[in-house]
Amino acid sequence: MCGIIGYIGERPACEVIVKGLKRLEYRGYDSAGIVTGDEEALHIRKGAGRIDELVERLKLLELPGKRGIGHTRWATHGVPNDINAHPHTDCSGKVALVHNGIIENYAEIREELLAKGHRFKSDTDTEVIAHLIEEELKSSESFEEAMRKALLKLKGSFALGIIYAEEPDRLYFVRNESPLVLGIGDGENFAASDVPAFLEYTNRVIFLDDGEYAVVGKDFYVIKKLATGEVVEKPVDESGWTLEMAEKSGYPHFMLKEIHEQPRAIRDAIHGNIDAVKKAAGEIARYEKIFVVAMGTSYHAGLVGKYIFQRLAKRIPIVEEASEFRYEFEDLIDEDTLVIAITQSGETADTLAAMKLAKKKGAKVLAIVNVVGSMATRIADLTLYTHAGPEIGVAATKTYTTQLTVLTMLAIELARVLGTTSEERLKELEEGLREVPELVEEVLRHDAALRELAENLVNKRDFFYIGRGISVPTAMEGALKLKEISYIHAEGLSAGELKHGPLALLEEGVPVVAVAPSGKTLDKLIGNIEEAKARGALTIALGSSEALKRVADTLIEMPPVDELLSPMPYIVPLQLLAYHLAVLRGNDPDKPRNLAKSVTVE
Ligand code: AGP
Repeated sequence: MCGIIGYIGERPACEVIVKGLKRLEYRGYDSAGIVTGDEEALHIRKGAGRIDELVERLKLLELPGKRGIGHTRWATHGVPNDINAHPHTDCSGKVALVHNGIIENYAEIREELLAKGHRFKSDTDTEVIAHLIEEELKSSESFEEAMRKALLKLKGSFALGIIYAEEPDRLYFVRNESPLVLGIGDGENFAASDVPAFLEYTNRVIFLDDGEYAVVGKDFYVIKKLATGEVVEKPVDESGWTLEMAEKSGYPHFMLKEIHEQPRAIRDAIHGNIDAVKKAAGEIARYEKIFVVAMGTSYHAGLVGKYIFQRLAKRIPIVEEASEFRYEFEDLIDEDTLVIAITQSGETADTLAAMKLAKKKGAKVLAIVNVVGSMATRIADLTLYTHAGPEIGVAATKTYTTQLTVLTMLAIELARVLGTTSEERLKELEEGLREVPELVEEVLRHDAALRELAENLVNKRDFFYIGRGISVPTAMEGALKLKEISYIHAEGLSAGELKHGPLALLEEGVPVVAVAPSGKTLDKLIGNIEEAKARGALTIALGSSEALKRVADTLIEMPPVDELLSPMPYIVPLQLLAYHLAVLRGNDPDKPRNLAKSVTVE
């Protein structure tokens, strides 16, 4: 769960790398480091802390050299401190490398290398790789050969950037189950965990596949297979992402920018999937046994998808957290099973493991993914992209509403193929979906009012979010947003559950946020709001019904919308409320404590 960037060309490498690391900080931010190389030697600076602070403290922008690699870390092995920060080196200090992933057999390799006299400085799994290459160099004719021999001994996941002091014209990059993309420039080349890291310089990209490595100089690159050393020809793609998409564009935080990007993102998701969902619906129509696997916000999208699938396509998917699915459902997966995996990053370890298990058992795997070329897209039989663009804030916002867009389109198309819902109703929903971006724009105009509301709630310690039917996942997602960035305890639950226990927690002034779109259970939900109010709760409702004005202490007026489409506009005020509460409490909403954007460990 780390970020890697590499550069070789004519610019000061440290400048390109520092900029790239800032754009990769969402992948991990407990420590960082850079190694550059000139004709003389390697120059390494690294430490615990955030990039901006390290640039000052370690004078990162003074590193000499026109080639180098950098790393931003989210610790997995070894606490985040100066020594465990990457890059790591061998005993001679001539081999330096940065790593994203986990080396599963590092302990035994370390034992063997210690016995051979290698001296280790850190507690990381990564450092063994540098020493292993050093060891292999003793019996190899070239650095590349030694590197290959060493890497073939590793078990686990790794994306690596490697620099060797004695080869001033090149860098090495390797991919195995962790992302790595090359950026092809003019007289300069790049590599990174993610495209935005070098998007300022080039949008020409090559995605490495698992088991491949690249030898990269300023005027050349060669991609080879790790297993055989055989050269692989790969096309150069043009990334559709622009730098503007990957920067804050005047917003104080990426999260706020990404919340406001939702109308555009939903439109792109619709346009980008019109043909793709038709094809996918045709391919999945035969499956009656359907699992949806995902984690966190993507899991909540899956829960919304369940309601839409069952209402329209009359198929009832079992929605499971990927971490549970792997252990609980193994015996039930077969060739007649469809597994829909939802993952923004396409890298979440539990989701990938669930997908791999499904494939192994012969199931059909459909992935709904945001990051193009990510691991999930490589495992899946077919992929639908959310087209949300890069999401940098750790809290998922636009990727959630675009996941909902894709799921809605897929359910509509599946219902059409199966003939389970009238064409008139499906057309009505398609039309409604096209209007959702405007509804979201309307909701975004409540931003100032939501900030004011947040000011009144800033000292609250607990929140409850309630809903019914298709709004239960919205309540859960609203609570997750609040927890992860404001650090306020929150629960999202079905309103019907309140009086089966949670009501005991309600005291004077505890906020209860009701997600109350008009629909068949609105009356019941109004009753639940009244029950909460009678126990002293401060009730806040999201809805368009007049009746809500009588019961709720605060009403956030929502535009009327078909209940099946309501999860998209209705999550937006909850994202904004969480955002403002986080900022008012002095938190950085883009980088919540203890969390990382992509959870690549189980
Ligand atoms: C949500 O705000 C979090 N970032 C988190 O719950 C996230 O949705 C989860 O880790 C799954 O990530 P994925 O969609 O990239 O698989």
